[in-house]
Amino acid sequence: MAKTYKIAVLPGDGTGPEVVTEGRKVLDAAAKKFGLSFTYQEYDLGGDRYLKTGELVPDSVLAELEKVDSIYLGAIGHPEVKPGPLEVGILLRLRFHVEQYINLRPVKLYPNVETPLKDKGPKEINFEIIRENCGGIYTGAGGAAHKGTPLEYATQVMTYSRSEVDRCLRFAFQRAQKREKKQLTLVHKMNVLTEVGDLWFRAFHEMGEKEFPEVARDYNHVDACTMWMVKNPEWYETIVTANLFGDIITDLGAMIQGGMGIAAGGNINPDGISMFEPIGGSAPKYTGQKKINPLAAICSAGMMLEHLGEAQAGAAMEQAVVKALESGKIKSLSAGRMGLNTEQVGDLVASLV
Ligand code: IPM
Ligand code: MN
Repeated sequence: MAKTYKIAVLPGDGTGPEVVTEGRKVLDAAAKKFGLSFTYQEYDLGGDRYLKTGELVPDSVLAELEKVDSIYLGAIGHPEVKPGPLEVGILLRLRFHVEQYINLRPVKLYPNVETPLKDKGPKEINFEIIRENCGGIYTGAGGAAHKGTPLEYATQVMTYSRSEVDRCLRFAFQRAQKREKKQLTLVHKMNVLTEVGDLWFRAFHEMGEKEFPEVARDYNHVDACTMWMVKNPEWYETIVTANLFGDIITDLGAMIQGGMGIAAGGNINPDGISMFEPIGGSAPKYTGQKKINPLAAICSAGMMLEHLGEAQAGAAMEQAVVKALESGKIKSLSAGRMGLNTEQVGDLVASLV
């Protein structure tokens, strides 16, 4: 009998629904081939619902999301809502609520994809960033006082507990261990963040020495890391880093792998409910035009399958993306310049699973 997975689908804002539709199309093609089945339950979380009802994530929805096998997200972000409420109230709320403490972002240049880096190709650009996803400066610990007066001040503090750091490091070492070249680079800013950086640094070396002696350990300051990602991306295999640093370097990673159209990510709770999403955002100016690239959403769905334990089906989805790129039928990864519309790209990939 086919194995059935319960997937909560959050198409979200802007072009989110368009790319999620194509992701589902390719998921269904993989299901057919590998004898799986999916039940999808859609939730209309996002800017439109917020503007209409003032609701972000109702408690009833949170309770239902606790019962699914995985969550598939399009994008959150609405041009008529100021930055903050949707990102914090929906995206971070979900990540925190089900403790998706890992944000896994592959930086992989596929064949036939253009990178802005001169003389670098798929061999040089192939690594993984593991970003801590529930803690650090993202928790919002701190506060403000005297708002609107000359005495005004505000703080938002980078906090990390040893256990938060350890659980993230453990996942990162395990990922590093799976690669041919076993090398994990810790990225932080310990020359300035002497307390929290030192906590990460000691935890990293202690765990590595005790539990993962076969994984080579390296350390880069985050500013230097942005430099090396551009100059020598081949130095990296697996990177582990704190939440804010990971947010920043994964956008750089997306650009060197060909842009937001191809950059996929997973918000992972290794023992719980994970959420997969293209990292590109809602691209409001392209909404409804069928110009947006669905490959990142398709790759995220492939990561979801891998995470659900369907490694073969997940790899087949990724391979279908590679074949679609190799076919030369997709002219560019940029919205509006693909030479195909969003649906046609989805059809092409689905036909190649
Ligand atoms: C990301 C995004 C989010 C983040 C925003 C939208 C809250 O930039 O997933 O990288 O900062 O984590
Ligand atoms: Mn980001």
